[in-house]
Amino acid sequence: MGGAALAAGGLLLPGTAQAAPRLTTPSPVALDLPTVPAPRSERTAGSALRPFGRHLAFGADPSQQVVVSWQVPDAVTAPFVRIGVQPGDFGAPVAAEVRTLVSKLSWQKPVEDQPPVKPTTVTQYYLHAQLDQLIPDTTYYYVVGHQGYDPAGQHTRLGDVASFRTAPAPGRGAGFTFTAFGDQGIGYNAAATGHLIAGLDPAFHLHMGDLSYANAGGSGKTSDAYDARLWDSFFVQNDPVASRTPWMPAIGNHEMEPWYGSDGYGGMRARFTTPDNAWSQSTGIYSWRYQNVGLISLDGNDVCYNTPANLDYTKGKQKKWLESRLAALRADSGIDFIVVYLHQCTYSTCHDNGAELGAQQDWAPLFDKYQVDLVLSGHNHVYERTDPIRAGKATRKVASGDTVNPVKDGTTYVVAGGGGGGLYSFPVSDTYLGHETGNDKPVPMVVSERGGHEQTVKVTWSRVRYTGYCLVAVDVTPGAAGKPARMEVRSLTEDGTAVDRVTVQRG
Ligand SMILES: [Fe+2]
Repeated sequence: MGGAALAAGGLLLPGTAQAAPRLTTPSPVALDLPTVPAPRSERTAGSALRPFGRHLAFGADPSQQVVVSWQVPDAVTAPFVRIGVQPGDFGAPVAAEVRTLVSKLSWQKPVEDQPPVKPTTVTQYYLHAQLDQLIPDTTYYYVVGHQGYDPAGQHTRLGDVASFRTAPAPGRGAGFTFTAFGDQGIGYNAAATGHLIAGLDPAFHLHMGDLSYANAGGSGKTSDAYDARLWDSFFVQNDPVASRTPWMPAIGNHEMEPWYGSDGYGGMRARFTTPDNAWSQSTGIYSWRYQNVGLISLDGNDVCYNTPANLDYTKGKQKKWLESRLAALRADSGIDFIVVYLHQCTYSTCHDNGAELGAQQDWAPLFDKYQVDLVLSGHNHVYERTDPIRAGKATRKVASGDTVNPVKDGTTYVVAGGGGGGLYSFPVSDTYLGHETGNDKPVPMVVSERGGHEQTVKVTWSRVRYTGYCLVAVDVTPGAAGKPARMEVRSLTEDGTAVDRVTVQRG
């Protein structure tokens, strides 16, 4: 999602934060009279503008590439990141790119509207510093700043120091954990799942879309209620976790913000920098690897029949790219597992958003062909795990605690949409670790078809269902001494209780 060249309707204005802010002497204000403030850039100095909303992302090679992103509350001059391998011993400033996002308030339906001082636009300053040629398997400490605010300068601000760790060089690591959820939003449940990530201290976190719900409607139409300022709350909420653990987002339907360019992703391109390696500005569609795991992020809006604003917008390019990436990863002897993550559900029995026929038709045959090990999605605000599926059918029953061999059995699909943004429900009772119903009757699945029609079919693969906030934690162990590589997939509730556990093992 990188690139300063975004010109979505002229809304992203690279370099507009470069004008030097001027400090003016404040004059007394009568508290009972309305005042019209001067433009903020004329009344603030850099020293008064504390960075916030830090979030990290890996580049395509996480052993060497990390992107540090953050926000400032007003225009600043010469933003930078300083890094070092010892806390307090930072190197020279590395310049950050400024992506200024201007959003008209007339698009929006603000929660509060306080007259008479009412802004007509919201201006957000997103900063991104792309670090390359880092040392593998190394903890780096960093601070972010700008002219007038240097946490590593004369007045060291230890509270501003954060850290990250690069991945081991491919083939060198001893195993790692990653976490995943979708549909997080803002609030105490969203913060709680974030705290759970912090406690697990994963190598990275996958976010399967529907991030802030700043676009409350999620239809991708300009009639959606939208308030760009909610993105500030989202990044503030997640800063304690995302400032030290790279978050790798996929695109959800609520990320279609049609005010920002033809695909509606101009805002996402301003806020996030993820590997830009499918094609130029292939927002949310990218591939990377972490040790022995190949990862692919897809944009489900491209195949989504029930929210069709961006249906077929890549004109087949995404499917073609997906096949080439799957083929390359499966041919790579250093890759054991392929994990695909996206927002919409290929298979799910939760009725609220159902399952996507487009994903079943376009992508599932490729997941079969290249033996994708795990597909993670959100969209339905529940947890659900399928038995392994091939050609649309379960190959065998895999209860919690069992082991799947994807080579023989097929692909396991997991819905983990309990990140915090409200909960949905199943048409039949939950069944999960320690609360198995033992009821194997077929379960109805609603699928949307092209044109908005729906059909209901009965399926037998819905093995684990849990209605509650949760995340997925995956512990990856490389093969060694004759033992095959393994992924232990766990679903954990807000308080860390496991409601599902399955081992994915090749060989
Ligand atoms: Fe969604």
